[in-house]
Amino acid sequence: METFKAGLEGVVAATTTLSEVDGARGELTIAGFPVGEIASNATFEEAVWLLWHGDLPTAQELKAFRAELAGKRELPRAATSLLREAAGANLDSMDALRMAAGTISLSSTDAARILATMPTILAAYSRLKRGEEPLAPRRDLGHAANMLYMLTGATPDPERVRALETYLNTVIDHGLNASTFTVRVIISTGSDLVSAVVGGLGALKGPLHGGAPGPALDMVFEIGTADRAEQVLREKLGRGERLMGFGHRVYKVRDPRADVLAAAAERLFTRAGDMKLYRLAREVESVAIRLLEEQKPGRHLQTNVEFYTALVLHGLGFDVSLFTPTFAVSRTAGWIGHAFEQQRANRLIRPQSEYVGPRGRKWMALADRIAESHAG
Ligand code: COA
Repeated sequence: METFKAGLEGVVAATTTLSEVDGARGELTIAGFPVGEIASNATFEEAVWLLWHGDLPTAQELKAFRAELAGKRELPRAATSLLREAAGANLDSMDALRMAAGTISLSSTDAARILATMPTILAAYSRLKRGEEPLAPRRDLGHAANMLYMLTGATPDPERVRALETYLNTVIDHGLNASTFTVRVIISTGSDLVSAVVGGLGALKGPLHGGAPGPALDMVFEIGTADRAEQVLREKLGRGERLMGFGHRVYKVRDPRADVLAAAAERLFTRAGDMKLYRLAREVESVAIRLLEEQKPGRHLQTNVEFYTALVLHGLGFDVSLFTPTFAVSRTAGWIGHAFEQQRANRLIRPQSEYVGPRGRKWMALADRIAESHAG
């Protein structure tokens, strides 16, 4: 019998050509490229094509793919009415995204349709929650630019588009993380892409996976000024709380995505002419790393992607409730890439469990159980 590994830690459960996470070196490779190469150079459409096809698109392929995505952004009517109900009930945005993503089956279940509609759902829900009507997607804009347009109603300037694309490209894929594993398990049963993506959204929502950037930003705001960082963080650790935005199952050195996003955040805040929050975050980061090393020696708890995600998305003017759904907009592309890979060489994913319960128990009828409990 194989030995049980809690959390499947260190267990290799798939082969992939999509991405490699080197936790010891702190390197992330996306289809052969160091993440930094793709993050700030590729459009989101180019990064998606790379994952789905293994190579960068030709000019013609890119043009056709952009047009295909642009033509598939509209939501089924049922999605909008569902989102209206969800906004009325003030549901969490990830729950709304998961519910509306399920309605995509009403249109079609092809990969481009699923990817194309994610920002439409996110933007529609965000507007409905603010008491505004959803905006129809624009075909003349790219994926990221259209997402910004649908959120705000204004044509975004290229620098904001670049910052969002840098973020989306940075988190597009990341080895066999929990949500990607979920997607592969669902696809391995012969199920469809919409079901797999809905499952992925369920896994991504948790604070140990994609739900950390909101709390990470809250923590920076709670600290408020650099001189309070040590006291607030010590108190949190004293209460046994985890510092959001730090630590990683695989990276035992700094998450390479943190640097890419820190640079993007610095550009955004410099351009906006207000570096206060950025400087505070850097202070908080260095105090947090020092205290984690002091209190959890040998654990190598370093900054993860979520810490700077919070800064970039905040710099883009996104509300905290949009952070995890925006992560999902990007990661959907990675999930679908993994789904294709799983389908190409499928074997049902079906691990084993180790039974640790009692054995040889004897059945007792309900009347006897009642009699026994009265007697007891
Ligand atoms: N703050 C404080 N302590 C932390 C910590 C953090 N962010 N991350 C891990 N630790 C501690 C654990 O409490 C544990 O301590 P113990 O051995 O004294 O009990 C030790 O470090 C090892 O943690 P473990 O739970 O084994 O790590 P993991 O591999 O299961 O966890 C995370 C990885 C990401 C879930 C974890 O680091 C975490 O919860 N981070 C905060 C949430 C976050 O930023 N998530 C986004 C991830 S991209």
